[in-house]
Amino acid sequence: MRKIAVCPGSFDPITFGHLDIIKRASMLFDKVIVLISVNAAKMPSFTLYERMMMISKNTEQFDNVVIDILDGLLADYVKNVGAIAIVKGLRAVSDFEYEFQMALANKKLYSGAETVFLTTSAENMYLSSSVVKQIAQFGGDISPFVPENVLEFIQSRLVKE
Ligand code: PNS
Repeated sequence: MRKIAVCPGSFDPITFGHLDIIKRASMLFDKVIVLISVNAAKMPSFTLYERMMMISKNTEQFDNVVIDILDGLLADYVKNVGAIAIVKGLRAVSDFEYEFQMALANKKLYSGAETVFLTTSAENMYLSSSVVKQIAQFGGDISPFVPENVLEFIQSRLVKE
């Protein structure tokens, strides 16, 4: 049986932190679906399609990684594609309560998949899409945090906002 994992997130935009988790997940599972999903609590800066464009260039080197978009319930998607795991990155204790709540809710909605947490690499502990956007908005250098094509995309968009 092929072991499929779903790596869901807003990815608004994708950072080196996300890419590190995706790469590590691709080594653990036969197939990884990076799932750009709607977080009802967040107002996104980029459309789902724009986020897909930003991710695809940086995941094309992984043979077993594909990208998809979801405007619905994660648990339903996971069930429909036959995934056995939902992979999330955990940065700090502050992430835990929220992630734990989502993991329990998803398990209740669909018990056939486990949520698997990968601890973030130490250099990405502080990194988040919102921190990157804030730095970019005020003209700071975001090159240590995002790949080049994403950097250009973000700058062309956010600096004007
Ligand atoms: O990167 P984020 O914003 O922390 O990711 C959260 C996300 C998008 C994975 C979560 O909001 C989600 O799963 N959205 C899809 C809709 C859904 O299933 N919501 C209930 C989750 S318990």
